[in-house]
Amino acid sequence: MTIPENIHPNFQNMITRKGKESLLNQHGLVVWLYGLSGSGKSTLATALEQCLYDEQIFTQVLDGDNIRSGLNSNLSFSDDDRLENIRRISEVAKLFVRAGVVTIASFICPRNELRAMARKIIGKKDFFEVYVECDFETCKQRDVKGLYAKAKTGKVKQFTGMDSSFEAPQPRDLADLILNTNTQTESESLKQLFQAVRPRVSSEKQ
Ligand code: ADX
Repeated sequence: MTIPENIHPNFQNMITRKGKESLLNQHGLVVWLYGLSGSGKSTLATALEQCLYDEQIFTQVLDGDNIRSGLNSNLSFSDDDRLENIRRISEVAKLFVRAGVVTIASFICPRNELRAMARKIIGKKDFFEVYVECDFETCKQRDVKGLYAKAKTGKVKQFTGMDSSFEAPQPRDLADLILNTNTQTESESLKQLFQAVRPRVSSEKQ
């Protein structure tokens, strides 16, 4: 996005990221969890936050329903609004990561194009992409929030996987990590996630 001539961003005289990371004794990172509704993203996001907290790592979770109740409460589930949703979240995540915070984002983020935008805004080196894979039928059976049932009767429109599409990462190795919550238990997925994130955020290991 180009900056208008009357806008003058100023980053001078601010405490640097390095300074903030050394205060926090950690490295900032955005852990970008995405997948179908009911795939287990929010469960893994909060469980990962607890594991990191136990290791004295400072975090912030950004979660779909929470952000859509505040910052993004004016956005729908149209393709354009989903793009704007992810654009704003990416900008927020960028602010957090540059303050040294381990930011755990948990959004459906249904298209490759949206993930590419998030990666571009945040910056590749700060972006750890995690696809929480779970097949549509399993998510539909879990139906934790009752939304699949509502979508089936037309009470919820533009529902992901029904009348709004979801794309798996293409190619699959675009994702830094794929957690399959059909085949893995919650604790197995969490262990894999924590083991991948911990060395990237811990100051001792870098
Ligand atoms: S995204 O597609 O724009 O990334 P986001 O993660 O913010 O979606 O929001 C998804 C959450 O909104 C779901 O977890 C669900 O609880 C709720 N929701 C309500 N309506 C829909 C819908 N039509 N499609 C998907 N999720 C919906």
